[in-house]
Amino acid sequence: MYVVTTRTEAGPAGCLVGFASEVSIHPPRFLAGLSIRNHTFRVAQHASYLAVHVVARRHLSLVELFGGCTGDRVNKFDLCAWHEGPYDMPILDDAAGWFVGRIHRRLALGDHVGHLLEPIAGQSPRGDEPLVSLRMYGISGRVTRREAHSRRVDARNLGVSENRGAFSETVQDWHSLGMHLRRVSAAV
Ligand SMILES: Cc1cc2nc3c(=O)[nH]c(=O)nc-3n(C[C@H](O)[C@H](O)[C@H](O)COP(=O)(O)O)c2cc1C
Repeated sequence: MYVVTTRTEAGPAGCLVGFASEVSIHPPRFLAGLSIRNHTFRVAQHASYLAVHVVARRHLSLVELFGGCTGDRVNKFDLCAWHEGPYDMPILDDAAGWFVGRIHRRLALGDHVGHLLEPIAGQSPRGDEPLVSLRMYGISGRVTRREAHSRRVDARNLGVSENRGAFSETVQDWHSLGMHLRRVSAAV
């Protein structure tokens, strides 16, 4: 799971994004799907960059903030710590890792628009702290029945259906991206 932010003259915007993946190593490319219904999408239509964050599980509340309410009604950036990063992008202080990507191309995918990003600066996650992923909302044999129940409740609070929680596990391996970021960050 990722929190994707951006910023234009209209102000900062951001939301939780599950439809996202590294899609190319050479050249490095990352695809982030934004729902056409979201405030973030509307702001991103006028942006040239997006910032993509991964979040450690101990900062789950950050994920809930960005996935649980809309910038149409709430200024999420009043409710969390952030700073201005490269290209004026809002960088969330509690993110475990992040990168800023130039929007290389927009792809109509249905009710989401894929933003094909060229990562140009960032900080890859340090250490091996567990990151927030859809898996933690899914039901697996490794959790007790009680844990599973509370996770399903969490998932409902976040608007994640049980099916959606089960169908996908986001691989949080930023290995190739991390190597690339170390190279390009030195240049920014
Ligand atoms: C588990 C989960 C995954 C989500 N994945 C996406 C996604 O890939 N793309 C997207 O635009 N919204 C996604 N959302 C929904 C937005 O994060 C959510 O609707 C958010 O409140 C939109 O905020 P905004 O209106 O300020 O942009 C997801 C929500 C959850 C709970």
